[in-house]
Amino acid sequence: MYSRIVGTGSYLPEKIMTNHDLEKLVETSDEWIVERTGIKQRHIAPEGVTTCDLAEQAARKAMEAAQVSPSDIDLIVVATTSADRVFPSTACLLQDRLDVRNCPAFDIQAVCTGFVYALATVDKFIKTGAAKCALVVGAETLSRLLDWTDRTTCVLFGDGAGAVIVKASEEPGILSTHLHANGQYKDLLTVNGGISETPDDFRAGRNYIKMKGNEVFKVAVNTLGEIVDETLAANRMEKSDIDWLVPHQANIRIINATAKKLRMPMDRVVTTVDRHGNTSAASIPLAFDVAVRDGRIQRGETILMEAFGGGFTWGSVLLKY
Ligand code: UT7
Repeated sequence: MYSRIVGTGSYLPEKIMTNHDLEKLVETSDEWIVERTGIKQRHIAPEGVTTCDLAEQAARKAMEAAQVSPSDIDLIVVATTSADRVFPSTACLLQDRLDVRNCPAFDIQAVCTGFVYALATVDKFIKTGAAKCALVVGAETLSRLLDWTDRTTCVLFGDGAGAVIVKASEEPGILSTHLHANGQYKDLLTVNGGISETPDDFRAGRNYIKMKGNEVFKVAVNTLGEIVDETLAANRMEKSDIDWLVPHQANIRIINATAKKLRMPMDRVVTTVDRHGNTSAASIPLAFDVAVRDGRIQRGETILMEAFGGGFTWGSVLLKY
């Protein structure tokens, strides 16, 4: 029994923030941002629009593409670091929105690796027979966690959501998943506090993303190179067996390095970082949906998804679409 992606969807809030808009907020330039990150613009959710709102739009599109109704769904997993509320989970809020009744629903918090963690978890539910039709979403409003006076972080992130429907199938789907974490790196990419550690700052909204970008960059490049090798070896595959790389969209230079490691031409790599920025857990399902809908990714092709993020967490999913 395999778990197979049978439908995809995504959603971006309408409002676009360009690098030129950011030049008015912090000491930066379009040239610096494009050269160092590949980002030209990002979408920002307007006030009052939440992570669940974005997740709902993406989920409805994935359900429509997969031709499943709310009563078919027996598991909901949302990967997010920017939940609407401390609790209930965004997955429970989404379950209510979609009128899905009485199935397990929970969030996964693995920052930018969240969607890979979510797919790996759902794959295990399906392979053990605990679920047959799962809704898996990566959704973020990380713009709410940004310090708009900190040029080292505020230029990098954007908001959005991507979703997939995963069904039990006898046809090949997810071939393998690989998850890792190393909490020793907790301070290189973090939010400086939260409910329990800094309750006063949390209540006052003074907790923001902090990153030692250059140090994160080096570990990310090496680690993603290793996960490519690990994934291919586990499946006894060659680099040339991969049809598409769908990477987490943090920085075009990191994506280029992974593509080079795979000896993959950039026209077989799905990149959205120029238009979406880094949407954390939403970036892989967003990029995947873009390439499915524009006809690049075809049924039967072999896809490698990989991600790296705060924790550090990292992982990959190899699948036949
Ligand atoms: O999604 C989770 C994983 N996240 C990542 O993988 C992100 C990894 N890191 C990165 O993508 C890159 O490290 C950044 C894009 C964040 C930074 O690029 P970099 O080439 O590593 O630059 P840097 O941090 O070494 O900074 C170089 C210079 C510094 O100035 P000095 O010290 O050389 O004078 C920074 O102060 O660039 C300066 N700088 C900026 N200049 C203009 C930093 N941010 C900006 C900015 N605009 N926005």
